Amino acid sequence: MGKKNLLAANSNKNDEFYTTYEDIKKELVNYAKYFKGKVIYCNCDDHNGIGLGTPKSNFLKYLADNFEAFKIKKVIATHFEKDRDSSSMYILDKDNSGDGIACLEDIIEIPMKGNGDFRSPECIKFLQEADIVITNPPFSLFREYVAQLIEYKKKFLIIGNMNAITYKEIFPLIKENKLWFGYGFNCSMIFKTKYRNTLETNRKYVISRGYNPDENYIKTPAVCWYTNLETRKRSEFLNTGKLYYGYEHMYPKYDNYDAINVDKVCDIPMDYEGIMGVPITFLDKFNPQQFEILGFMDRQNSYQLRTKVYTKSDSPKYNDLNRGGAIWIDGLLKNTYMRIFIRKKEN
Ligand SMILES: C[S@@+](CC[C@H](N)C(=O)[O-])C[C@H]1O[C@@H](n2cnc3c(N)ncnc32)[C@H](O)[C@@H]1O
Repeated sequence: MGKKNLLAANSNKNDEFYTTYEDIKKELVNYAKYFKGKVIYCNCDDHNGIGLGTPKSNFLKYLADNFEAFKIKKVIATHFEKDRDSSSMYILDKDNSGDGIACLEDIIEIPMKGNGDFRSPECIKFLQEADIVITNPPFSLFREYVAQLIEYKKKFLIIGNMNAITYKEIFPLIKENKLWFGYGFNCSMIFKTKYRNTLETNRKYVISRGYNPDENYIKTPAVCWYTNLETRKRSEFLNTGKLYYGYEHMYPKYDNYDAINVDKVCDIPMDYEGIMGVPITFLDKFNPQQFEILGFMDRQNSYQLRTKVYTKSDSPKYNDLNRGGAIWIDGLLKNTYMRIFIRKKEN
């Protein structure tokens, strides 16, 4: 499968990308204290497990394996049966076998009335009962999925693609501190998929991580954990050691917007009080006590922060130049990487 087809698979409405136990463990272990006494709901779980060797998702397995250690109250997992009228659900809330430990073997399966669509009234009832939602939702429904979590005021820890940051439904949530990033940010994750992995470098990476590419394990770049659970990194103060005053030539101002351009997060000047245009990867270091986010340069210019609006006289290809985060400094196209506008808070 070529790169193009892999991308197509990514955007397929039936995107079946199964998360590995290893990646789930790496992230979830950081939030153990939040799980105590809580009802956890995995609402886009999957139990068909294309070749995973288990009918239960790795999310459910990990939570069951740590049910006692994390003192979880209950785990509910529902999955979508797109070609059937009804699905089934898994519940773990106690030691049913009587061996003294509530774990994987104590999970009970209960038939559902509906097909397990996370938007169905039946699933919304479980959502209302839940304290925290944890899953890897279908990427094609990411906007809708997050909107529902926000509407029901749920705590969540979910996997999403980095591209979602720029969605007009997602970025405002980041800006308003209703959603931020977990420990895994812009990382390469390996998923079990339906697709054959025929990309040589991808296969090499998969092997280097101990997975077999012939079993349809595929590396996917730019994956993030999106959450509204507090993280340690979110309260760490960024200190790059860099200064603006005395080094002004390093930080040119935009042509028509009163902000300086910073090309790398590690170059953000600590003494600049005005607006700075920084790379999107800044979000991994964002501490809302230290900085505020003002907007970003986007295609629609929804935030009115585009640095220059082009006309035909600028270039016959002016439409292209208006795309993305085109930055103009001294009349020259600087680059087309997106920039987020931030400002230091007074501390
Ligand atoms: C990216 S996969 C992840 C599966 C599993 N959570 C994991 O990480 O291994 C997303 C899952 O959501 C399911 N799905 C698609 N549409 C859904 C819907 N409307 N409601 C619930 N689940 C859905 C897909 O069938 C797929 O199994």
